[in-house]
Amino acid sequence: MAIMPWRARGGGAQNGSMKTNDTIDGAPTMLAISQDAHGSPEVLTEVRIPRPSPGPSQILVSVRAAGINPTDWKHRAHRLFLDRFPLVLGWDVSGVVEEVGYGVTLFKPGDEVFGMLPYPHGVGSHAEFVTGPARAFAHKPAGIDHVQAGALPLAALTAHQALVDTAGVASGQRVLVHAAAGGVGHLAVQIAKAHGAYVIGTASAPKHDFLRGIGADEVIDYRSVDFAEAVRDVDVVLDPLSGDTRARSLDVLRPGGTLVSFLPGGSPEEAEKAARLGVRVETMLVEADHAGMTAIADLVEKGALRAHVEASFPLAEAAKRTSSARPGT
Ligand SMILES: NC(=O)c1ccc[n+]([C@@H]2O[C@H](COP(=O)([O-])OP(=O)(O)OC[C@H]3O[C@@H](n4cnc5c(N)ncnc54)[C@H](OP(=O)(O)O)[C@@H]3O)[C@@H](O)[C@H]2O)c1
Repeated sequence: MAIMPWRARGGGAQNGSMKTNDTIDGAPTMLAISQDAHGSPEVLTEVRIPRPSPGPSQILVSVRAAGINPTDWKHRAHRLFLDRFPLVLGWDVSGVVEEVGYGVTLFKPGDEVFGMLPYPHGVGSHAEFVTGPARAFAHKPAGIDHVQAGALPLAALTAHQALVDTAGVASGQRVLVHAAAGGVGHLAVQIAKAHGAYVIGTASAPKHDFLRGIGADEVIDYRSVDFAEAVRDVDVVLDPLSGDTRARSLDVLRPGGTLVSFLPGGSPEEAEKAARLGVRVETMLVEADHAGMTAIADLVEKGALRAHVEASFPLAEAAKRTSSARPGT
């Protein structure tokens, strides 16, 4: 995953063409990366827009770093869940509380926080400031910087909600993580290990040392080995892939096991097969989640969870630096 530190690396506002104290009709403004149409990275432009104010139970966060996930590229390129322009992308946030709205008790100005804005409609962290429900956030763990913290929320919440809330992973269970070297996958491996699971991950061979390094017990090269032949008696499968992986993964589950998919899919035939095998299939969409963020912060503080950051760059370079992003993913 990539990450955009807005102020942490001296980019953005400090060296942008506009001054941070600019106003529109006397009201404070901020810089943001916005788009007025779907398309390639060239639709992203740096704009100055009104700075939001926190409503009841919301906080205003000064964004120090914001992750980029596949859903950002998908929403940039296509109409998915959101149908509005101008559109500022970004669900991941790590930053500092600037103001709190009426009724907020969890945070005060100056607190360092990280969180995921409500998915999908709360989007907008690829900007200098963003508002969101206080309970979408947790205190940022002291031992990590904003770049590390800004890479975690969406991907780590997805893994946590799938493994813990949906599948109820327990110590000693066997967990198969597809795309284990990906943004969600590598955090899922660590979260499953932290819950005492035996973890099997699929990834291309060059990623196997990385996966063993973060605790995977077994790794399968999906390019040369058919996982459905190689794995048996699994309690939980996490599937962030499209295609036939979902249906074929039912065969590796033991009766009573759970498959959690992150993409739309399924068919009457798949439901019939799942019923026959006595396994459960869930399609999950990540949700903003204070308890989940707190659990993630606890794992980070224990040294059990760390994001692999692929690249970091100033917000102002967002369009240029995401031009190699896989279109349509
Ligand atoms: N429903 C939700 O709430 C939710 C939340 C988060 C993400 N998602 C979706 O989940 C998907 C994954 O997200 P991500 O952030 O993890 O993406 P990512 O970081 O782009 O993951 C890419 C990984 O996929 C692996 N891969 C590709 N084909 C594979 C195969 N056939 N078998 C095993 N691994 C394979 C690659 O492995 P190698 O590098 O080893 O080739 C790569 O590491 C995206 O489509 C995203 O939109 C959904």
